[in-house]
Amino acid sequence: MSKLDFSHYSRQLSLDYDDDTTVEDATYPDFLVKLLTDDLDFHNHTGNYATHNFHSFQAKFPPQLPSKFILSLTQEGDVVLDPMMGSGTTVLEAFLTGRRALGFDIDPLAVKIAKVKTTSTKPNELMQYCKLILKKARNQVENEKNFLEKELSRRWESKSKEFIDYWFAIPTQLELLALLLQIEEIRDERIRTFFELAFSAIIITKSGGVSLAFDLAHTRPHKAKLVIDKHGMVILGEELQRNNSPRLNFLTKKLRSPIDEFEKRCIQNINGLIRSPSGKFDPEIKFGDAQNLPLENASVDLIVTSPPYASNAIDYMRAHKFSLIWFGYSIEDLGFRRKEYIGGEDTTSTEFEELPGATSTVVSELSDLDEKRGKVLCRYYSEMKRTLEEMHRVLRPNKAAIVVVGNSIMRGIDTQTQNCLAEIGQAIGFEVPKIGIRRLDRNKRMLPAGSTVNTSSQIQQRRHGEYVIAFYKA
Ligand SMILES: C[S@@+](CC[C@H](N)C(=O)[O-])C[C@H]1O[C@@H](n2cnc3c(N)ncnc32)[C@H](O)[C@@H]1O
Repeated sequence: MSKLDFSHYSRQLSLDYDDDTTVEDATYPDFLVKLLTDDLDFHNHTGNYATHNFHSFQAKFPPQLPSKFILSLTQEGDVVLDPMMGSGTTVLEAFLTGRRALGFDIDPLAVKIAKVKTTSTKPNELMQYCKLILKKARNQVENEKNFLEKELSRRWESKSKEFIDYWFAIPTQLELLALLLQIEEIRDERIRTFFELAFSAIIITKSGGVSLAFDLAHTRPHKAKLVIDKHGMVILGEELQRNNSPRLNFLTKKLRSPIDEFEKRCIQNINGLIRSPSGKFDPEIKFGDAQNLPLENASVDLIVTSPPYASNAIDYMRAHKFSLIWFGYSIEDLGFRRKEYIGGEDTTSTEFEELPGATSTVVSELSDLDEKRGKVLCRYYSEMKRTLEEMHRVLRPNKAAIVVVGNSIMRGIDTQTQNCLAEIGQAIGFEVPKIGIRRLDRNKRMLPAGSTVNTSSQIQQRRHGEYVIAFYKA
């Protein structure tokens, strides 16, 4: 691979700084360099406070990261935006520190998660509802099995039902439906969404939760081959058990009761609420596309965000459909939506943008090896160009966007995401004072498939960290 001429993104500082230096003591870009030189790893910090852990989410960043930039670069009442908010880490930190938080995402589950995490609800009231849901759902599973079975066969069209039958055992389906029917009865939207999120959280976990999937953090979830119900009965894969296959341990799933799991999750989340203080300004959280934000020009004081990886390395919809399907989305609709995510693989209707020099060289090198993958990368940089243009438009002058990105390797080619995005940003009018580096704590962050630690591999080492790019609007 040829050596590309990426400019070296590190501004020479004209100030001596220490921990007490504030944005008033320096020029804004110099202060950004100071912030990106500090420790960005946050390995010894916990993310388990307030509502941050209400629901798992792949590649969410630690709350300390947005918090650092929010506290250093904004004041109470300032507007903080995350246009690809995911589980709402930035939005929640902005809310907790009295900023006006704005968050958008194209993923319906992300919007639900971020909303619930930043909505003040009364713990006692939730606990009352929780007890009622559990009582009625348990009663229905015990006494109205026929009704539940009929409802299960009626609710979904054939393709969606096939998906449910493939990924959820029948006893699990019955309990999930009984819970859902109770949740749907709740009129107050804030309360209903709180319970929908607890429902989703028992399905979407790294281990696949109450579904038959093994690993929803991976791009392709695997289905359990041997399934044992809560009474110890084998309900799938008897043959495998008889053959005493050595791989059995990895393929076995013991079913847990969704109602019991829901109870635990509700109690955990309600306890999270009790400890979380409420901010002054209600956040605005909306479904929306980062490439076309419904915001005024020059209306935002700070952006802290992390876009998806290039090459669709984390396929959010593939995991999220496991719970979205229970909320009335059809498999077909979810399939269409999946194509819209930044970094998607379908390039049939992509509007490709003109990319600056070194970025288009990376794309050409990949295209020479594999034309299809080249188009996918070109789609990613085109989408990120439109997203960065929107960020530039909505930021006030003398303000910044902090963008956290992971790098990708496609067909052995380093996509140099951090350098390419910096170059694209410069081409549309941003200054890039510095690209910071943070080392990932593999135990904490849910990352794409194939990211297991192998320190001998260069590729894995690169994936072991991510980049924090400061884009400054003069
Ligand atoms: C890396 S995640 C963000 C994680 C987030 N920082 C957190 O802490 O939870 C990237 C997000 O970008 C969202 N996304 C993808 N395409 C988008 C688009 N066109 N507009 C808005 N959000 C998009 C994905 O749905 C995903 O939630």
